[in-house]
Amino acid sequence: MSVIRSYAVWNNKGGVGKSTITFHLASRYAEAHPKKNVLVIDLCPQSNSSMMLLGGGTIGEKNVLDLCTEALPKTVVGYLSTVIAGGAGAPLPNPFNFVVNVKSYNKEMPKNLYLLCGDGNLEPMAPAISGAAAAPALTPSMQPWVWVHKVFSEFIKNIGTQEENSDWMVFIDTNPSFSIYTELAVSAAQRLITPVNADDSSRVATNAMFILLHGQTPPHPIYGSWTFAAQAQKYSLRIPAIHVIVGNRLTQYEGAATAFKALSDATADTLYTAFKKHPKYFTKKKDEAKNLETFRQAYAVALRDFNTAGVVSAHLGRPLSKMEQGYYPVHGLNVKVNADRVKECSDALDELIKFID
Ligand SMILES: Nc1ncnc2c1ncn2[C@@H]1O[C@H](COP(=O)(O)OP(=O)(O)OP(=O)(O)O)[C@@H](O)[C@H]1O
Ligand SMILES: [Mg+2]
Repeated sequence: MSVIRSYAVWNNKGGVGKSTITFHLASRYAEAHPKKNVLVIDLCPQSNSSMMLLGGGTIGEKNVLDLCTEALPKTVVGYLSTVIAGGAGAPLPNPFNFVVNVKSYNKEMPKNLYLLCGDGNLEPMAPAISGAAAAPALTPSMQPWVWVHKVFSEFIKNIGTQEENSDWMVFIDTNPSFSIYTELAVSAAQRLITPVNADDSSRVATNAMFILLHGQTPPHPIYGSWTFAAQAQKYSLRIPAIHVIVGNRLTQYEGAATAFKALSDATADTLYTAFKKHPKYFTKKKDEAKNLETFRQAYAVALRDFNTAGVVSAHLGRPLSKMEQGYYPVHGLNVKVNADRVKECSDALDELIKFID
């Protein structure tokens, strides 16, 4: 029996580090767990994590474009359009016709890392996906909304059945807008990894996330019945629970330590208030969180600012483990990377990986 675990890296807020975290987390997790298969599904049309994984910079960009422009794209769009064109009930295509092994594009990467590549055409395709989900049900057992929203959870289930006893860890990168493809990403994941920055917009976005996932009380008089949350409840679709909150770039504000601490505490407070009211919005942990401090220990991890080391590593599509002290080319500049900084970034990532089970 294969064991499959799936995480979406999601916050309803742009630029909090979703793609950077997906890149570093997937590559480091794969290195640390050579016996497991690791899959990244890039459900953001910006395809940033795909570009980093497939070599970074202009190389990664070209590799993504090549996959997107194949006759049958080896991307999320290739898979989605094949499934939707086949119609509900048609046999599902082999996931491996669409997934690529990252190492065959980027030799720095571990061989157990796979990618269902992002694709800019996800954006123009969105109305077609929404249209398929909104189609009337022709039989009681085949609900188009459920079928479309389960496309990627079925994909993940299917990839696990291709090889016996193969364990899969799946990370899904998302877009900050709650568009149809983000609904699909969230519906495919068992758990959420939620990056936050130490600012008010990040804190507010976490409340918006709960409303998008679980609905508003009382529901909006007009839109309330159309929402993802309402449909998910109607069809008993599983909603992923927050497993870990990643305070990202936390040392960015070192110069303004007091303001930073106040903002970071405010975000933790907001989340702890949600936890007290709705513990089911969060995964169950071994030790029950009884106060703000134990809540933080159970659910929050601090990822320091990666500074030059992490940013150069993502730009070059090179895992942190392959970064040595020295100068690296970044768009015509030679940028110095310090070994101590690389070690700090790797240690911070390992702290996050301890949460991933
Ligand atoms: N820990 C970090 N240290 C330093 N820079 C970081 C860190 N995390 C993210 N960044 C930088 O912040 C910017 C935004 O990161 P990223 O693209 O990963 O965010 P995102 O949440 O995926 O954005 P979007 O919502 O547009 O998809 C990038 O320039 C990235 O290099
Ligand atoms: Mg992104």
